[in-house]
Amino acid sequence: MSNLTAIPRVVISHAPTALEHMPQLSKVLNRNLYVKRDDCTGLAGGGNKTRKLEYLVAAAIAANADTLITVGGLQSNHARQTAAAAAKFGLHCELVLEDVKGTPKLDYYQNGNMLLDNILGAKIHQVPDDLDSNQYTDTLIKQLISEGKKPYLIPVGGSNEIGSLGYVQCAQEIVSQIKQQAVELDHIVLATGSAGTQAGLLAGLILAGIDIPVLGICVSRPAAEQVALVTALLERTLVLLGLDKNLAKGKVFANGDYYGEGYGIATQAMIEAVTLCAQHEGLILDPVYTGKGMAGMIDLCRNNTFPEGSNLLFVHTGGSQGLFAYQEIFNPS
Ligand SMILES: Cc1ncc(COP(=O)(O)O)c(C=O)c1O
Repeated sequence: MSNLTAIPRVVISHAPTALEHMPQLSKVLNRNLYVKRDDCTGLAGGGNKTRKLEYLVAAAIAANADTLITVGGLQSNHARQTAAAAAKFGLHCELVLEDVKGTPKLDYYQNGNMLLDNILGAKIHQVPDDLDSNQYTDTLIKQLISEGKKPYLIPVGGSNEIGSLGYVQCAQEIVSQIKQQAVELDHIVLATGSAGTQAGLLAGLILAGIDIPVLGICVSRPAAEQVALVTALLERTLVLLGLDKNLAKGKVFANGDYYGEGYGIATQAMIEAVTLCAQHEGLILDPVYTGKGMAGMIDLCRNNTFPEGSNLLFVHTGGSQGLFAYQEIFNPS
């Protein structure tokens, strides 16, 4: 038993999302590869943040908020989904967005998620390069309060223990889908950034008493730092669920070999992974998260870390809207 059903939630996601076999990619890599289609959660293009927002928006409504604020990079998928959730629940949305050095320039400022944020009616604040986004956000919150607004701050990536609950839900879906489809998984693989997706998934598997290793492919920091971040959030999520935080011990695995020069900076392996999945499965990944996550899974198959015949589930966490900010990388003139 856990506290999950007692925690307020609004339903936004088109769930359960499909769990599909990838027959062509399986042939290419000689493994049985499956994909959990969380790119299809339904809100303004979908993605993993929609599940987190079900709990975060419920918490904002319970706090009587009229404005959602969140923070991220200019091409944040989380910001786009937060803007859409705000629109759906009649709330204002203020996005505090930072430029990311080393990313393509042509469309990064106006296309992809930025275009959608504008269409969704969010107010965008681009943090000046010499200012810290946390300080900027604190000042913005004070200003909104002085104007009579009731802001609710959603942390970067929606990654606190409330947001992670969305992936406790997703773990429950995966457990019931693999039972229904008689799939025995050896590993779950996903891209890990602000940590809430991996922490929530692990908490959900622990809650279900299922021991499938979950490997996070880092998109922004070395593995040891990512393991510490995910572990701390997993512990807090377990406590929120009324479980023992020590159940987190030995559960968190991350690989930091595939993020290249840094967050949002394209790698050759990402480009190969995005095109391979598109051309063998008709599956569109993204350049910042799932492209690098899939690049990791492909390489770990090729170097036999995942032995031939392994049954692997890749969690597609969305983000393909970001491709339109990277067209110069995929389509050089
Ligand atoms: C498409 C996509 N995949 C994966 C992630 C990483 O999820 P998390 O931040 O929960 O680790 C994000 C986060 O923004 C994302 O947008």
